[in-house]
Amino acid sequence: MVEFRLPQNSRIRVGKTWPAPKDAKRTKVFKIYRWDPDTGENPRLDSYTIDLDACGPMVLDALIKIKNEIDPTLTFRRSCREGICGSCSMNIGGGNHLACIYGIDEIEGDISIYPMPHMPVVKDLVPDLTHFYAQHASINPYLITKSPEPGTEWKQSIEDRKKLDGLYECILCASCSTACPSYWWNADKFLGPAALLAAYRWIIDSRDEATGERLDELEDPFKLYRCHTIMNCTNTCPKGLNPAKAIAEIKHMMVDRIV
Ligand code: SF4
Ligand code: FES
Repeated sequence: MVEFRLPQNSRIRVGKTWPAPKDAKRTKVFKIYRWDPDTGENPRLDSYTIDLDACGPMVLDALIKIKNEIDPTLTFRRSCREGICGSCSMNIGGGNHLACIYGIDEIEGDISIYPMPHMPVVKDLVPDLTHFYAQHASINPYLITKSPEPGTEWKQSIEDRKKLDGLYECILCASCSTACPSYWWNADKFLGPAALLAAYRWIIDSRDEATGERLDELEDPFKLYRCHTIMNCTNTCPKGLNPAKAIAEIKHMMVDRIV
């Protein structure tokens, strides 16, 4: 399992502790990062002991149980509960995961939960993804064409469509980019694995007519070449995608158009 640095907020305090319910037979301790910008206090780690026999199997089930039954101030994002919206990505037991599809039983002993590493924190487990989304928007994630519009639709062969498999499934959860040391240190200039995977998805789309311009945009010492093939992105992606391979393919295309 890939281990990551904790959020950069300094000096995490020991926080409150909620004991197990009296009649609980199977329990689990969740140590959860808490930070409220309105208090001006340093972050703290609160401990909640959950009765596993009265809780669903996923980490998100435990978070929802804590919020509903123990501590309504706990703040986190979630929506689909099916691993398709990307809202619930967080650092669980030292790795980035989607809480809704990550089983409580995947971790032995206490489970620590932090927001994704090296992102500004809005509150508790909620990172500020404004910059991440702006980087995604910067690669123009849509079809660009110059030919006259076809009467019905832009057609694509079955073979060309298959080339997009393993790319279009990205749910923009940011697990990969926030697992990448190059992104930690240069997020202002390096686009990061998620945005580069999306860039590659449009570069190789047979219907797109802006391939050269897209590659020109990425020809930059930081935007693309800050990837050092550390592979945390690919090892982390909860959808099983391979951003490192997509980045390597873009680099090959850069070389191919020079020689
Ligand atoms: S490539 Fe994977 S980890 Fe990265 S944003 Fe997309 S789904 Fe999340
Ligand atoms: S709630 Fe949508 S991916 Fe987890």
